This record gives sequence, C-alpha cells and structure tokens, in this order.
Amino acid sequence: MQVVQSIADLRAARAHWPGLAFVPTMGNLHDGHLALVRQAKATGRPVAVSIFVNRLQFAPSEDFERYPRTLEDDLALLAAENVALVFTPTEAEIYPEPQTWRLQPPPALADILEGAFRPGFFIGVATVVLKLFNLVQPELAVFGKKDYQQLLLVTQMCRQLALPIEILPGETVRTEDGLALSSRNRFLSPAERAQAPELQRCLVQLAARLREGAGAIEPLERAGADRLTARGWQIDYVAIRRAADLQPFTTADLADGAPGVILAAARLGSTRLIDNLELPPELRRHASG
Ligand code: PAJ
Repeated sequence: MQVVQSIADLRAARAHWPGLAFVPTMGNLHDGHLALVRQAKATGRPVAVSIFVNRLQFAPSEDFERYPRTLEDDLALLAAENVALVFTPTEAEIYPEPQTWRLQPPPALADILEGAFRPGFFIGVATVVLKLFNLVQPELAVFGKKDYQQLLLVTQMCRQLALPIEILPGETVRTEDGLALSSRNRFLSPAERAQAPELQRCLVQLAARLREGAGAIEPLERAGADRLTARGWQIDYVAIRRAADLQPFTTADLADGAPGVILAAARLGSTRLIDNLELPPELRRHASG
C-alpha cells in the first residue's frame, strides 16, 4: 500500500494504477467505510482511498476542530484491506490559497434537507469531491447511502458535468441494534447511545405505516418527528421524499409505485445524527397493486 501526502506524489503514483476505484473519506474509518472499500475492491480494480477532513463543508459553528482524526489506525485498517493507494493531503496541499472557486450545486437538490440545516455544506462537498476526482482521476467511485443526499448530488454532478466516473452506491452498515455507523457516534453518552437506534426504528415504523395505507404524507412525517421529540431528540427533519430527486413524496407517488426514501436528521444532546430508509419495493407493489 502506497501512502502519499502531496499532489506531486499522488500524480506520480496514480500513473501506476490505471482504472482506479476511489473511496473518498474524512477518516476515522469504521466498518461502513471499509464496506465501501471492499465494494470498490470487488470491481476488480485497484483501490484508492483519500483521508481529508474538508474544512470547506463545515460551518464555523460546526465540529471541524473536534472531528476525530485517527490517521495511524486508519492506515492499518486500509493496509489490511489491500488498498493500493492512500491519499492523505494536508489542508495546505488541498487549499494552498483560499478556495474562492467553488462548485455551486442546484439549490433544488442542495438547499433542502441537509442543505437547509447546514448552509453551504453541499458547496463544500461538491467542490472537494470534484477536486479529489481531478487529482485521483478514478474511473469509478463508491459513495455510501448513509449520506443519501450527498450520493445523489455526486451522481448528478458526474452526469451533468460529463465526468468519466461511474458512481456506485454502498449500503449503510449498522450496529446490531440498528444504529448507522458514523464517526460522530463516539460523541454519544451511554444514555444517548442507548437511545440512538430509535432514529432508525422511527423510519422503519413510518415505512410500516405507509404500507398499512396511512393516508396523507405530512401528518405521518409529523408523527415520526413527534415520536422522536417525545424521546428527547431535537429534530431537524423527518421527511418522506422521492428517491430520484428528494422532492416531496405524494400519495400519488405511492400509488404509482415511485421509489421513495424516508430521511431524518436529529440531535441527541450536542450530537447530530442522520439516517434514511428506502421504501421497500414490496411496499410499492402493494401500494400500486
Ligand atoms: P465520510 O463521512 O468520512 O464518509 C465517507 C464515505 O463513507 C461516504 O460515502 C459515506 O456515505 C460513507 N459512509 C459513512 N458511514 C457509512 C455507513 N454506516 N455505511 C456505509 N457507508 C458509510 O462523506 C464524507 O466523508 C465527505 O463528505 C466526503 C465525501 C469525503 C467529502 O469530504
């Protein structure tokens, strides 16, 4: 496994690895990240991973400084996965001058849900992902469904900007009690950790109520949010959306069997968690049949 920090070394190294599959990360790697690495590996391509905590996607009030940095552990995990190339740039390497050129994703996709609660977040994500794509020049990249809106945005960016990169979605990896793995889980107190799987349970319950023919969508979203609030969560959103563009999912969409996804973001104490659940196809068949 070759570990490079500078752009010059990356460019020299990547010449030896045609047809790279790429997994961009912010490090503090867990089994969710490693699942993406294995999925990349399963394509038969050499795998490149980047580890870079991207200041551009953190608002000044957010947790950039306390974001966990565990480079040594990360490199040991990646070595065990037989990764070909790891790019661990410093901030000065990626942003040697103020990054005044930024990629502005379409507000209809980037200013809703996560983007509504984290203004500028997807400008920061799109800019760094495009920059990393230019540096690594992979033929394929894997992104997790855990960050559903990010996955959609990156896929659309590649399509609309004609980048020759195929985006593969990776399933969300969870603990046994259903909590989606996340670098931020380590900030949960024991009591919060015990409560955290409730986020996924709430989404599962909403999907079940849709299956039972629960009627209008908005009261369902409110009921989901209320259930979490009653258990001590502070809600940013609980939203049932069309999977294709994250626009509101209607009962007509349900009847048509359109793919849907339930997305939620909420805080336990000072820790913000996100999760989502794709509506199962049998629900769509049931609703349309
Ligand atoms: P990060 O949060 O480190 O996530 C890196 C990748 O791992 C993303 O594609 C994310 O969706 C995926 N991932 C995180 N938790 C997962 C889980 N439990 N199961 C499966 N996949 C999971 O997302 C970012 O970094 C950044 O925004 C980045 C794309 C690197 C740009 O800075």
